[in-house]
Amino acid sequence: MRPYVICHMLSSVDGKIDGAVLKSVTGSGEYEATGAMLKGDAWVCGRTTMQQHFAEAELFVSTSNKPAGPQPVYVARRAKSYAVSIDTTGKLRWSDSDIDGDHLICVVSERVPEDYLPMLREKGISYIVTGKTSVDLVQAVNLLGEHFGIKKLLLEGGGHINGAFLEARLVDEVSLLLVPGIDGRHDIPAVFDGVSLARKGAVPLKLKSVEQRKNDTIWIRYNVIKQHNSRKAKQ
Ligand SMILES: NC(=O)c1ccc[n+]([C@@H]2O[C@H](COP(=O)([O-])OP(=O)(O)OC[C@H]3O[C@@H](n4cnc5c(N)ncnc54)[C@H](OP(=O)(O)O)[C@@H]3O)[C@@H](O)[C@H]2O)c1
Repeated sequence: MRPYVICHMLSSVDGKIDGAVLKSVTGSGEYEATGAMLKGDAWVCGRTTMQQHFAEAELFVSTSNKPAGPQPVYVARRAKSYAVSIDTTGKLRWSDSDIDGDHLICVVSERVPEDYLPMLREKGISYIVTGKTSVDLVQAVNLLGEHFGIKKLLLEGGGHINGAFLEARLVDEVSLLLVPGIDGRHDIPAVFDGVSLARKGAVPLKLKSVEQRKNDTIWIRYNVIKQHNSRKAKQ
């Protein structure tokens, strides 16, 4: 069974997700408090978000630049909760095997340089190598369930990794914290971004719950309605 995926995000009324700009209209700790109520056993972020908030400032520099190719899953250890980073070519450098107590799993593609993986092992970081040129998200999520026992995965942005999970039909539920503010700037990622321009219809959702929170914030939860026809036929 693949893990159940809930995309948990905070956004302005116009769907923008730049936390620094939205800070002034966001109740402190609301994103974390609502996230905790979802009871995930892992959370996952795209490379840009990981770089901005959690990884070392300096990027990894390979001395070989030779692609690692297919590799077995490396389980450094099993844990109660996990932080998962999706980093196609192994750009991120890490100082520790945990982020705030959650054991780190790096998901990379076969393009990752071969000297990146021993660096992760030395630091006690787990990893999954999947996909020839880009990360195979469906396989990655399946492997997270199979090798780490993850049952509920919180997809926590940014917009481009959320869009890729959506296109791969991996999002089961959306948990949106709508804060009372408007960003309005062009080129700021939206909650789901980068989806193919060929898509013709919106992904349908079914309302699960609505809750008014502190500070005029609304917490909305939707189930994603699964469409049975092939993705190509629907786009
Ligand atoms: N408001 C919120 O709740 C919230 C939550 C999280 C983040 N944010 C904000 O979101 C912004 C960053 O969002 P973002 O959309 O620019 O970046 P992102 O989604 O965090 O990361 C995108 C990167 O992930 C990597 N990736 C790997 N596989 C991918 C795939 N199949 N599809 C797409 N990307 C893939 C790519 O980098 P490589 O090719 O190098 O691997 C890509 O550039 C930041 O401002 C952050 O603060 C807000």
